Amino acid sequence: MSTHFSVAVIAGDGIGHEVVPAAMDVVDAAGSRHGFSIDWTPYPWGSEHYRTHGTMMPTDGLDRLAQHEAVFFGAVGAPDIPDHITLWGLLIPIRRGFQQYVNLRPARHVKGVRSPLAEPDGTDLMIVRENVEGEYSEVGGRFGRGTDAELAVQEAVFTRKGTARVAAYAAELAARRSGKLTSATKSNGIIHSMPFWDEVVAEAVAQQPGVELRSVLIDALAAAMVSRPQQFDVIVASNLFGDILSDLAAACVGSIGVAASGNLNPERTYPSMFEPVHGSAPDIAGRGIANPVGQISTAALMLDFLGETKAAADINQAVDDVLRDGPRTPDLGGQDGTREVAEAIRKQLV
Ligand code: NAI
Ligand code: MG
Repeated sequence: MSTHFSVAVIAGDGIGHEVVPAAMDVVDAAGSRHGFSIDWTPYPWGSEHYRTHGTMMPTDGLDRLAQHEAVFFGAVGAPDIPDHITLWGLLIPIRRGFQQYVNLRPARHVKGVRSPLAEPDGTDLMIVRENVEGEYSEVGGRFGRGTDAELAVQEAVFTRKGTARVAAYAAELAARRSGKLTSATKSNGIIHSMPFWDEVVAEAVAQQPGVELRSVLIDALAAAMVSRPQQFDVIVASNLFGDILSDLAAACVGSIGVAASGNLNPERTYPSMFEPVHGSAPDIAGRGIANPVGQISTAALMLDFLGETKAAADINQAVDDVLRDGPRTPDLGGQDGTREVAEAIRKQLV
């Protein structure tokens, strides 16, 4: 008996159109091996939709996506359209509308990937970033534009519910891994929201047996990420801290072209969305040299979330083997193309 999943595909812009189809082939191969299949429904949304219709997606976009079990996303962004339009017109409405309050970003060092660190071996961490509130709020405004009294106010919004649920997710993940959980804070400098974060995180983590919580100031944590990342396993952080820290972690373990992420609605009331960390890379788009590994690892995260854990592990193993032995795209020092790398990974699964 075979399982079917219904997945919406938004390739988006730029290299999204190259790495997304490559990753879909890998998933289909894993499906044949593990007895599941995916009905992929493509949605042609993104910058081209904006140029034609003035919006990044149709007004009923979220309703249409809601019919699927997951959204497999490439990247959006085009040089002729301001980034706040592409971001706030597509990604942010999906993250918020579908209460994808966990942004899960693994950072694992794999042999064969050049790292800027002297000793990257053994780095294997999961950053759990709060994804819908915190510092990225719409509360605030500008006053006295153009006058010498001009000012800007931007409020960070931390709720008990929002903080507790992301901490609970991180604690559960830590319990399934090493039991070690680090919380990024700045309660010495940000005197209202961060002590609140510390309190609510500690309460939520106390509910999860077998998890040891350590709160570390974000500046020290950033330094430690570069000097000894192996000491961390699961890290939970607010929206802004998690955004920066996960890019730093991705850079520590190698190319941005290999990093994966999931925007999760853990209750599964709405579909979750899976996207690589990189953007649309207009500088290399259309040349067939984009690294597909970020998108393929993203597919593994998606399968893991959908319950196909063996298939996900198989894909990760195939990715590790190919990263170690090649072929490799130019960002990793190789001379191969998107298709060669994806095909080498796919072949390991059949
Ligand atoms: P980017 O991630 O697109 O590119 C940064 C650099 O990394 C470029 O030199 C690019 O060639 C390289 N790179 C990225 N992915 C790669 C891959 N798979 N293989 C090989 N090299 C790769 O970030 P950038 O240049 O800041 O942004 C370009 C556009 O993408 C912008 O419009 C930006 O807003 C958008 N963007 C979208 C994101 C999303 O859809 N979630 C995330 C980040 C940026
Ligand atoms: Mg970022």
